[in-house]
Amino acid sequence: MSDIASDFETVPEPYKIKVVEPIKLIARQEREVAIKEAGLNQFLLKSDDVFIDLLTDSGTGAMSQNQWAGMMLGDESYTGSRNYYNLQKSVEDILGFKYYCPTHQGRGAENILFGIIIKKGQYILGNYHFDTTKAHIELNSGLAVNLIHERAYNTSVEHPFKGNIDLEKLEHFIVEKTPEKIAFLLMTITCNSVGGQPVSMENLRGAYQVAKKYNLPIFIDAARFAENAYFIKKREAEMFSYSDGCTMSAKKDGLVNIGGMIGIKEDEELFKKVKQRCVPMEGFPTYGGLAGRDMEALAIGMREVVDEAYLASRIDQVEYLGRKLKEAGIPIQQPLGGHAVFINAKEFLPHIPQTQYPAQALCVELYLEGGVRAVEVGTLLAGRDPETGLEILPELDLLRLTIPRRVYTNNHMDWVATCLKRIAARKDRIRGLKIVEEPPILRHFMARFDWAE
Ligand code: F0G
Repeated sequence: MSDIASDFETVPEPYKIKVVEPIKLIARQEREVAIKEAGLNQFLLKSDDVFIDLLTDSGTGAMSQNQWAGMMLGDESYTGSRNYYNLQKSVEDILGFKYYCPTHQGRGAENILFGIIIKKGQYILGNYHFDTTKAHIELNSGLAVNLIHERAYNTSVEHPFKGNIDLEKLEHFIVEKTPEKIAFLLMTITCNSVGGQPVSMENLRGAYQVAKKYNLPIFIDAARFAENAYFIKKREAEMFSYSDGCTMSAKKDGLVNIGGMIGIKEDEELFKKVKQRCVPMEGFPTYGGLAGRDMEALAIGMREVVDEAYLASRIDQVEYLGRKLKEAGIPIQQPLGGHAVFINAKEFLPHIPQTQYPAQALCVELYLEGGVRAVEVGTLLAGRDPETGLEILPELDLLRLTIPRRVYTNNHMDWVATCLKRIAARKDRIRGLKIVEEPPILRHFMARFDWAE
């Protein structure tokens, strides 16, 4: 495997394709109708109207023949399913956690755990919380605080671990607010919101040491644990040793279409509470909202995802697309992260004010150009300050080209790059957007837009 990575320019996929799903580019005129009907919000498009879907890498991957075979081994007993024990073995072997509880997806895990360990008004400190994670913190009466290192906000600064938390800021925050006001620390690996950027082992160790110094629990948001481990090229079990447990959306590095879990290192008391709270929320703790066959597919997927040949080709595809954009002079978050290429829309479209959602405007343009669906990670996603009602204007306004696992070829990536190059040639004519309909929370999913004057 290392032969491939070091001696050749490209990294071929360590698999061949057995089943194909047709996709189709509908005509430009039809795309215009479709996006208008969707209120200029790509979340509201029908997937049949999308050609290449880079909305998310979550639950959109392709399963292997072994995973599909595992689906036939589903034991759908209400409790004590055999697949629960198979998955337990994978969790223990790969993540190193003694205890685990399956959930229907990542946010199910967050909701169970946060309801147990957050006291009203406590802070939850992390490198950068994902949006549904932040929402669950707030729904459980906590306050989410992001303490990522400053450099993450400058897309042209190269640093191997731009997902790192600022350890000085972290300790300072704990001392200033006092440890009693902090519920726990949460390290998101890789850090989705700033570009799929990895966190270094040293930083995980540092955050763990700070947490233990002040007697605080520390968890890992493990959605993309294998991609993070690939970047640090260490054994993933070591990463998790710098935590008390994890919540995980298995829809990413679990290589399945649905699933999640909570992992706990040794706190038996906490595990007991998790199981109790799982019953009303997700179901009996040996299935946690999943069918037996889903747990089997996940037990297999977790082993497949840590295969270095797979990870090398996966990360190489992200790099391939990133390189094409960089060559075309399109500003992207550098260096390239794990699961997506992030375009800096404020820099790409300087004529569109941030209050007119440059990255969202670019999403619309990209769909019109070539039927490619991307997603905004910026001003729209940041939403409003719950107290003042004013728009939060985040440092970064990004368009995320999220690459599903084992789904598209580099020809598809070429198409995406070509569309963006064509847009770049006339980017000054792209117009900003205004919101015409806005839900109170997680507005990006359902908001509707029109072009600004
Ligand atoms: N944590 C991270 C870092 C995530 O990226 C996600 C989901 C979740 C938690 C929640 O997991 O969707 O299974 O409930 N991210 C997806 C995305 C939706 O598009 O980035 P979930």
